[in-house]
Amino acid sequence: MTLQAFSQRLRDRVQTEVQLAPFTTWRIGGPAQFLVQAETLRDVADTVAGCRAANLPLYVLGGGSNLLIADEGVRGVVLSLHAMKRMQPFGNKVLVQAGANLGTLVNRCNQAGIGGLCGLAGIPGSVGGALAMNAGGRYAEIAEFVERVVWLNPQGELESLYREEIDFAYRRSGLRFGVVIEAVLSGTHADPAQLAARSRQIMHEKLSLQPYQEFSAGCCFQNPMGHSAGRLIDLAGCKGMQVGGAKVSDRHGNFIVNSGEAKAEEVLQLMQQVTARVQVAHGVMLRPEVQMWPARDVLSLAA
Ligand code: EPU
Repeated sequence: MTLQAFSQRLRDRVQTEVQLAPFTTWRIGGPAQFLVQAETLRDVADTVAGCRAANLPLYVLGGGSNLLIADEGVRGVVLSLHAMKRMQPFGNKVLVQAGANLGTLVNRCNQAGIGGLCGLAGIPGSVGGALAMNAGGRYAEIAEFVERVVWLNPQGELESLYREEIDFAYRRSGLRFGVVIEAVLSGTHADPAQLAARSRQIMHEKLSLQPYQEFSAGCCFQNPMGHSAGRLIDLAGCKGMQVGGAKVSDRHGNFIVNSGEAKAEEVLQLMQQVTARVQVAHGVMLRPEVQMWPARDVLSLAA
């Protein structure tokens, strides 16, 4: 694989064989063959165009908080937008770039008296990643606040979509097939002090229920319709199960924590074991929520 299809301007900025583990909250994963850290829309567009021309796989990196990268890393181009993180509140809305940190956005909205987004407090990740997978928790999901999104669609064209044009679903959206550039999110007019208090309350709740201080990717599995995956995993007796450095959290069953040296392969084996146990105990098939690079079918792994 070569980078000849990329503009010279971009080629000067491509890094090769960059370890990706530090870019993930799990601190797991091998290197990216190529890494582009975009600073402008033009960088993003050139990267997408180059990948299309050279037929190179393109992986878009958000906050790395819901991501399991293989120990061998990924061949192709990893595109990070974390330098594109401007946010600009206006009235009860905010214009925000995809690389902005979601927690920072929540704080900024709270300060600006933009109500509603405080319900996203404590959810890690970037705004682009949150939109691509419709991040959410007990109190809100990001789709509720979307007015419009600018993205490079799968054809590589710059496009602006209103919320109604985006197929948001539970922890999923069509935006994951392109590259989110920026969005306008809309809340209600509210009192900054009350918003901050609400966010603190939610954070406090999360800290008490989840292993927030450990390396994890949040919830590993989607909640099956009408169930909590964490509860099913707990009832199936999986808490504390371990493969190498990967362990099912004692605090919340749906979290797999990296106790230090975990390999992606160990996490996958543990996920497979948990899936099998829950299937036997409850007759429910868990589906992974975490994204895998390259894509893997956790069910096809050897037990
Ligand atoms: N429960 C147990 N044992 C456990 C975990 C949970 O019995 O090990 C019970 C709890 O006591 C509670 C019920 O199961 O009665 C639900 O648990 P929780 O409130 O933690 O919610 P959840 O359904 O497990 C979802 C999201 C979380 C989000 C929380 C709170 C999914 C897959 N998970 O978890 O999102 O933080 O609600 O809003 O949608 C994430 O996506 O990474 C994530 C952490």
